[in-house]
Amino acid sequence: MIIKDIGDALKAALSKDVAMPIYVRETSFTYPIKDAIWDNWFPFAYVAFQKLNCAMRVQSFAAIGTGSGADAIGACYTFDQLKTIVITDIDERVVPVAQENVKRYAATVDVVALAGALCAPLRENSTKVDLIYENLPNIPNAEDIIHGFRQSSFYGPGSFRVQNQEAKSYLLESHLATLIEARESLSKQGKVICSIGGRVPHQILHRIVETAGYTFNELVTGFKVQTEPEEVLPGYSAAEKNGVIFDFYKYDDASRFLDSHGIKKPYLLNAERLKKLLFPFRITAHEALKLYRSDQNHRIGHVIHMIEATKKE
Ligand SMILES: C[S@@+](CC[C@H](N)C(=O)[O-])C[C@H]1O[C@@H](n2cnc3c(N)ncnc32)[C@H](O)[C@@H]1O
Repeated sequence: MIIKDIGDALKAALSKDVAMPIYVRETSFTYPIKDAIWDNWFPFAYVAFQKLNCAMRVQSFAAIGTGSGADAIGACYTFDQLKTIVITDIDERVVPVAQENVKRYAATVDVVALAGALCAPLRENSTKVDLIYENLPNIPNAEDIIHGFRQSSFYGPGSFRVQNQEAKSYLLESHLATLIEARESLSKQGKVICSIGGRVPHQILHRIVETAGYTFNELVTGFKVQTEPEEVLPGYSAAEKNGVIFDFYKYDDASRFLDSHGIKKPYLLNAERLKKLLFPFRITAHEALKLYRSDQNHRIGHVIHMIEATKKE
């Protein structure tokens, strides 16, 4: 059994005092929490939650693809008016673990834990929520799933019924499919936060969000190390065809550069400015894979986005 303390992550992202420790139990099926705070996705999500908490009333919240439930714990600590929290994951083995983790820190909130793909658990339970947070994999790969691996980075063939060539080519189908499904599971003026790796041209993200019937707002943009590079980079490299290339960066050189320009927090810049600053360190997925395979000490980085998608009437 592995126990991680995410108290420091909550403190760093929410800039407020939190009674420590905050324990999260992990199993071999939950997406692993990394020791360095900003190597994880969920602290960036906490920053996004905090921004939205100032702008809207969130009484009901759903985390889709919650893994160990770390993202949902942040929601419990952020949204002052929260009454219901729904946590879902496609992997039935992780849902009870997430439920146990979230319940420990959700004294005044109803926790509903459901297994299923994308928004199906919400739809099947006729549940509507004010805010959905999604953190889904991008890479099509049946083999690893068939052989019982975690489903953190990969999805199986035919998982999403969206016919959008741009989303398919740029490995954004899971996000487009979630946005389309989420429309019927959101309350009036409900929102989705899509957590998406910024490995693709920014305007494509705009188009995907608009295509699904939402308005686009960039909530948080950050820079983080590419975790699980041995799992993830081959998938992106294989998808680099027909003019499609992905944006990765030489992580240590880029981090030093940002640091020397006084950019100490990994999430304070907007996407355009961050990508401009990072441009000299940019490499394709193919180059990133080659670099990583030549020496595994070469850390690869990527931009991440927390996008606020607001349902249009
Ligand atoms: C990258 S992990 C993120 C886990 C967690 N949100 C975090 O930040 O630690 C992606 C999660 O999505 C789940 N997942 C994969 N495909 C899914 C789908 N189609 N519907 C719902 N969850 C899915 C995986 O099982 C995994 O727990």
